Amino acid sequence: MRYEQQYEQYVKRAEQALQRCAQMVLNGSSRTAQAARYSLFSGGKRVRAVLCLAAHDLLQGTVQKQAEDLAAAVEMLHCYSLIHDDLPCMDDDDLRRGKKACHKQYDEPTALLAGDALLTAAFETAARTALPQQRTARAVRVLARAAGTNGMIYGQELDLLHEEVPADAQKLAQIHCEKTGRLIAAAAELGALAAGADVPQCCSVRVYGLELGMVFQIVDDILDVVSSEDVLGKPIGSDAQKGKSTFVSVYGLQKAKEMARQRNEQACAALVQFGEKADFLKQLAQELCWRKK
Ligand code: IPE
Ligand code: IPE
Ligand code: MG
Ligand code: MG
Ligand code: MG
Repeated sequence: MRYEQQYEQYVKRAEQALQRCAQMVLNGSSRTAQAARYSLFSGGKRVRAVLCLAAHDLLQGTVQKQAEDLAAAVEMLHCYSLIHDDLPCMDDDDLRRGKKACHKQYDEPTALLAGDALLTAAFETAARTALPQQRTARAVRVLARAAGTNGMIYGQELDLLHEEVPADAQKLAQIHCEKTGRLIAAAAELGALAAGADVPQCCSVRVYGLELGMVFQIVDDILDVVSSEDVLGKPIGSDAQKGKSTFVSVYGLQKAKEMARQRNEQACAALVQFGEKADFLKQLAQELCWRKK
């Protein structure tokens, strides 16, 4: 199957899984549940879900539905992080996925709660998937570690801290790894884990995900400078306005692009043992490196 067709198919499965899981764990007519669904179903590239499903296929998994549950869980968690990231006390951005940010469509307390609800729903979704119990427990742990105070949350903490104090090269790499790389790596690892991959296989997939996550955030920094609001569906120039430390502010545009390409090669190198079976994931890395939105 062609890459584009395959990507579309994964996205379609991810959307269906999100609908199915949201009906179980984000149902009801409360304002919080409505706001959570507003953000969750406002579009988005669904990259993390695609990664999870593709990693499951890479390891020749046969538990499609369980991989879809985990893909949905990661997207819920990611969506929570975006709602909170846009709040006035964080990046203070009013546009997300081409629509009003959650706190603009609703209000700040509701957005805070909607984020909380998505985070909670993510773990319920992961916990109720029908995998062997030990595998489910591992999946929940992988997700928690990636998202917690030694992972994404720590990355967000450092990101805000370095609005005041410029980050050096090492700190910047750490920020990007924690705030973005960790969850992207977890997405891929969860797919492998669902498929029953052994520890070295999970490890290779995680390394691929970490490198890919770096590429993803470097390109996000670049797009904040060179893209447009219409294309991105979120404000541009937001990083410079906040005085954020980004790959563009620290290295300049050209060097940042070069670094994304280097990281991309490292991502693909991590999959060498899988040979042609990894072609989709390698192409995905390529596409994310050159993406325009
Ligand atoms: C945006 O993530 C936040 C970052 C970690 C850079 P995405 O670019 O994946 O956002 P959506 O899900 O497609 O909206
Ligand atoms: C977002 O980074 C990282 C997380 C949400 C964890 P950014 O703040 O750069 O993401 P955008 O540019 O607002 O999407
Ligand atoms: Mg941010
Ligand atoms: Mg932001
Ligand atoms: Mg950004």
